[in-house]
Amino acid sequence: MIPQQDEPTPFCAWSDDYQVGIQRIDRQHDGLFSTLNKLHDILMSHGDQIVIDKTLSSLIDQTRVHFHDEEALMQTHDYPGYQNHKEMHEILLRQVEGVLETQHELETYHLQQSWAEKLDLADFLREWLISHIVDSDKKLGTFLKSKKVE
Ligand SMILES: [Fe+2]
Ligand SMILES: [Fe+2]
Repeated sequence: MIPQQDEPTPFCAWSDDYQVGIQRIDRQHDGLFSTLNKLHDILMSHGDQIVIDKTLSSLIDQTRVHFHDEEALMQTHDYPGYQNHKEMHEILLRQVEGVLETQHELETYHLQQSWAEKLDLADFLREWLISHIVDSDKKLGTFLKSKKVE
């Protein structure tokens, strides 16, 4: 869809190049883009920490469900790149958990991460998501389509 002229470009803009071709996966990626955009908007407007935490944990929950679904599809169809792909998912989750742990530690001492650091996390997630879709999920999509998955 062509954006309206007065509509600002979203932080994480969808492109047809990100289309994997498997309905469930594409729908979930679209949902991740939306939540990431929501998180970015809240951070840009220096929103309330409770709202940031809620949005971030919803993004993490969505990501877990999505990774689980991709991994289940890989297993069902004996995807040869399963181990590697699963490992990439696990590394990302560990990295995000590390960031959250640091945040909680800071809060224990009544300190806050700077807005720049919070925005770094959103940037990192956007770069990770896009490159993972283009480099890995699209390969999986091609494989699943060859197995007649829609
Ligand atoms: Fe994915
Ligand atoms: Fe993936």
